[in-house]
Amino acid sequence: MKTATRTVRLLSQAQISAQIAQIVADHDGAREAEPQPHLDYPPYRSSRLRFPHNRLQPVDPHEIERWSPCFGNQDVDPLDADLTVAQSGAPIGERIIVTGRVVDGTGRPVAGQLIEIWQANAAGRYLHEGDQHPAPIDPNFTGTGRCLTGADGTYRFLTIKPGPYPWRNHDNAWRPAHIHFSVFGTAFTQRLVTQMYFPGDPLCALDPIYQSIVDPVARQRLIASYAHDLTEAEFATAYRWDIVLTGSRRIWLDGGDDD
Ligand SMILES: [Fe+2]
Repeated sequence: MKTATRTVRLLSQAQISAQIAQIVADHDGAREAEPQPHLDYPPYRSSRLRFPHNRLQPVDPHEIERWSPCFGNQDVDPLDADLTVAQSGAPIGERIIVTGRVVDGTGRPVAGQLIEIWQANAAGRYLHEGDQHPAPIDPNFTGTGRCLTGADGTYRFLTIKPGPYPWRNHDNAWRPAHIHFSVFGTAFTQRLVTQMYFPGDPLCALDPIYQSIVDPVARQRLIASYAHDLTEAEFATAYRWDIVLTGSRRIWLDGGDDD
């Protein structure tokens, strides 16, 4: 007996881009500033089953925090901010410095913040069982790091520039190179997550996650600046990216994202 097979046809990039353009056109018509992403955003197909469809329910934060991760100053080693030295050899790729300040809406520094990052390697591959696409794993690169902000709110990482990777949202879909950031807050229930992108990446224009922030000014805040004044000769190029937690220049800070 012949078994019926169901073929799921992925949308093309042109179809996804047309959806993105239509949402932008609708937004321009509404003329509202929208610094945060649309949660109900059809071009980001895998989010359709994940975004909240019901009103959020208040819960007791103290009860959650009793069981949540926490940290102290002694838990974070300064070497945790160097993603190039954790293994026995040097990782492959373009060595980069990523640094900036965490500030509130008035520009005041937010000191002592736990900043965690995770990213793909130079070939666009995560060291994660969920990532099986045919790009090489780098045995000398885990793609994870953390640090505490200093008294002036500054964080600094030394890492490898991540590569773009395919993600099956639609046919021939590629995520722009990016680094995931988590800002812990003072307790786990305050944790915020976002992504940093690199200047001049042509994939940003095609990416439904990046484009889910329809306000172009707000979108631009997720792109780091190349910082030649911070590059180190014969060693590493540098990017500067500030994280603004509140106010009108607040960057997109979401509850979490796996892509
Ligand atoms: Fe990612």
